[in-house]
Amino acid sequence: MSSPTLLTAPTTLAILGTGDVAQAFARGLIALGHTVMLAGRDAAATAERLAAFAAETGARTGSYAQAAAFGTAAFLAVKGTAAEDALRAAGPALDGKLVVDATNPIADEAPEHGVLRYFTARNESLGERLQAAFPSLKVVKAFNTVGAAHFVRPSFAQGPGSMFIAGNDAEAKQAVAGLVEVWGWQPYDVGRIEGARTTEPLCQLWCLPGFLRNDWVHAFKVI
Ligand SMILES: NC(=O)c1ccc[n+]([C@@H]2O[C@H](COP(=O)([O-])OP(=O)(O)OC[C@H]3O[C@@H](n4cnc5c(N)ncnc54)[C@H](OP(=O)(O)O)[C@@H]3O)[C@@H](O)[C@H]2O)c1
Repeated sequence: MSSPTLLTAPTTLAILGTGDVAQAFARGLIALGHTVMLAGRDAAATAERLAAFAAETGARTGSYAQAAAFGTAAFLAVKGTAAEDALRAAGPALDGKLVVDATNPIADEAPEHGVLRYFTARNESLGERLQAAFPSLKVVKAFNTVGAAHFVRPSFAQGPGSMFIAGNDAEAKQAVAGLVEVWGWQPYDVGRIEGARTTEPLCQLWCLPGFLRNDWVHAFKVI
């Protein structure tokens, strides 16, 4: 069971990742009173790379497995091509836990005329691949359709944007929706994890103005 307040009442949380997304999650979650552990592939290298960030924010660092054991829930914020490996390395400590999956299936090849290339096909998604590969997890796809700089209380003049949420576990989605609202977004339920087929491509659309004309300040809103 995932309590609806799992992500809004202070607890310990794992962040699998060390980059912009992981750090945006960490800052937003610490501001809510959570204790977080960020994780990379190598715990020592992660501690060294994030030393200043950890000193400033109070975040902890560790390996994927250490973070998985530390967190009552986890945020997945690694390169899409590495998502399965990261969850495998996290191991059984994640069993039964909510995993907020912010990844997108971006391929290593360069974008084509501003359009990111994906390693998934149209009728599948990385979110459902992860859910199928790790059935004991409660995977909820969210935060993958906007840049990390806008995750927490974005200041768009048009008011709250839509945060798309896909997943099979209703209570886990409710917990994510609670966090989404606290961070100033309107949750928009796109059903079971297959709904990620419709939201992962929105990252391609979100990034396109960035690649074409260096415009990275926008968000989606269902009206
Ligand atoms: N950037 C955004 O604004 C944004 C917004 C929404 C969603 N997303 C998605 O969120 C995820 C994280 O994005 P990001 O921009 O923060 O970071 P990123 O550059 O896409 O990924 C870096 C993270 O991936 C990990 N990783 C694991 N295996 C790796 C490998 N083989 N090669 C390279 N990195 C590996 C790195 O771990 P180490 O610490 O061990 O290097 C690091 O934590 C991505 O799936 C991205 O598509 C990004």
